[in-house]
Amino acid sequence: MGVFIINGGRRLDGVVRVQGAKNSALPILAASLLASGTTIIHNCPDISDVDAAIKILRHLGCMAVRDGDSVAVDSSSITRCDIPDGLMREMRSSVIFLGAILARTGQAILSMPGGCELGPRPIGIHLAALAELGASVDERNGNIICTADTLTGCCINLPIPSVGATENSMLAASCADGTTIITNAACEPEIVELQNFLVSLGARILGAGTPTIVVEGCKFGGNTECRVLPDRIAAATYMCACASAGGKILMTDVCPEHLQTVTDALSRMGCIVKTTKSSVFISSDGYLKAIKPIITRPYPGFPTDAQPVMMAAALKAEGTTVFVENIFSNRYRHVGELLRMGADIRTEGRVAMVSGVRRLHAAPVFSTDLRGGAALVVAALGAEGATEINEIHHIDRGYSNLEGRLCGLGADIKRI
Ligand code: EPU
Repeated sequence: MGVFIINGGRRLDGVVRVQGAKNSALPILAASLLASGTTIIHNCPDISDVDAAIKILRHLGCMAVRDGDSVAVDSSSITRCDIPDGLMREMRSSVIFLGAILARTGQAILSMPGGCELGPRPIGIHLAALAELGASVDERNGNIICTADTLTGCCINLPIPSVGATENSMLAASCADGTTIITNAACEPEIVELQNFLVSLGARILGAGTPTIVVEGCKFGGNTECRVLPDRIAAATYMCACASAGGKILMTDVCPEHLQTVTDALSRMGCIVKTTKSSVFISSDGYLKAIKPIITRPYPGFPTDAQPVMMAAALKAEGTTVFVENIFSNRYRHVGELLRMGADIRTEGRVAMVSGVRRLHAAPVFSTDLRGGAALVVAALGAEGATEINEIHHIDRGYSNLEGRLCGLGADIKRI
């Protein structure tokens, strides 16, 4: 299972290169199913969610091989259209394969994704979008079966700007006959990257990054290569680690414009933040002050995925910081663990109030989910003593060599 032992209280100092983005690599791996030749994905993070996506591709009959930071996929040999229960459970976001499998084979069979650590993870919006495109959707024996001989362009108005439903709609629509207009689409940078990838395969898509995306169905071309964009949530995690522990770090291979809400919040808390085109420098003397409420919203709002690490950075800030979590119903599970480390946090529904404490202390704690686990790491770096973080497989889902990167900055972390 794996445990981190973190000796806190060391300032961070140095340069860290940020990994490729999990939430961009996964839809691109799914989209590689649409290519008729070989796709090479560079800067693909070495994390267990990507391993799970590679297993899904292999199960479907594709060739998928990792070589260092690059993953090559040849989907010309696809033989199946199902994702079995074990693989669905290994990665909750495997629903991202739904639209691509359907578009490629005419049928997709997935076991029902149950709830997840962040609350129920329904997929009704994904299914409604595919039904608009002409797919029939059945639920049988715990499986979802989507079938369509042909998909037909249509108007898809998403009730909320769901990231995954926008991606599934783009993937299916790009193989449909005619034009699809997706409104109230998610605007995350990962959606823009999916558009860029599909365009590199010959798709005709416009508008990603705005609420309206127009997709003209087409036949897909052969080989393509892409580079996964930098992970904005991993970058936010290193910044919050520096804010919590104190020190000064330079992050390279980042897109500062994707981090605007996070860098603004940390600046207001008292950190010094300077950016160039592809780097962010942050310094903190470890003394932070509370700021106005941090409210999670779809991009370009404050990202829900950065809420737990920002909360960890705010634990010792002078005053009270209020968090409002608007995206997921159960994203405060790390709070109970942070309380064990001496934090002062009260939660009520979607609101968490963090009253700054003078010091945090070590305790045995458990990762509850990916970003909640990262929050424990951030808190432990700013705490006194040796914190033991259990269940770190959650962290491995999304962070590539987190401990190695932090140790390179002077942190004292052992994986047992
Ligand atoms: N929702 C529905 N019905 C649906 C789809 C979504 O009610 O059919 C709800 C969800 O339950 C949630 C909200 O809509 O409350 C937003 O969900 P969304 O579909 O936007 O999220 P997602 O596509 O499942 C992606 C990221 C998450 C990130 C969210 C929000 C990937 C693989 N995952 O999830 O990343 O939190 O967008 O930005 O891209 C993470 O990296 O730690 C992570 C959880």
